[in-house]
Amino acid sequence: MLVAPSILSADFGYLADDVKAICEGGCDLVHVDVMDGHFVPNLTIGPVVVEAIAKAATKPLDIHLMVENNSFFVDLFAPLKPEFISFHIEEEKHPHRLIQKIRSLDIRPAIVLNPHTPPEKIEFLLEYVDMVLLMSVNPGFGGQKFIPSVIEKAQRLKALIEKRNPDCLIEVDGGVNDTNVKVLADAGVDVVVAGSFVYKHPKGVGEAIASLK
Ligand code: DX5
Ligand code: ZN
Repeated sequence: MLVAPSILSADFGYLADDVKAICEGGCDLVHVDVMDGHFVPNLTIGPVVVEAIAKAATKPLDIHLMVENNSFFVDLFAPLKPEFISFHIEEEKHPHRLIQKIRSLDIRPAIVLNPHTPPEKIEFLLEYVDMVLLMSVNPGFGGQKFIPSVIEKAQRLKALIEKRNPDCLIEVDGGVNDTNVKVLADAGVDVVVAGSFVYKHPKGVGEAIASLK
């Protein structure tokens, strides 16, 4: 299992230290939650802060956009050379065009599905993306309870991916811990995002990441 800790649960007063800790602790990606206060009822960070994260990180960035104007935000974050930029399908009228734009910037495109959105909705986009992110909480906040229907969604998505683009990764985000990670792995999930589980783990971030792997 690949692990992408979410810096949303880091201590922003010590952000560089907290980013270095997960990279030294063996994470695979640094998950960055960008919220605009419109698509979701919360506001997080922009390119100035993400640039500081990119400087501190020794692992690639996984930028999760929770915003209304995806194309505008892709332009803002592209100069920071993230590995992935993911956008919500619920908020995009022209997903195929946006995917091509992200790819043309040498960034790997990914689509995010909210808890209510069926995987079949993106069947004909699967061949163009490198990852699909399934939300297992309502986007907007860390520390929420895992929604178990994501397990069936991951299984259905896995079957579609095998048909359309077997190289496409499945990522799950929200309420992930060392218990539900097992059933996610069995369902075909490749990457888990974990915020509060990693940063609030009593034995430290390295132990938390190891337990998810
Ligand atoms: C929620 C974010 C998540 C969140 C995960 O909108 O996309 O990445 O920070 O945090 P936990 O693991 O605490 O649910
Ligand atoms: Zn996220």
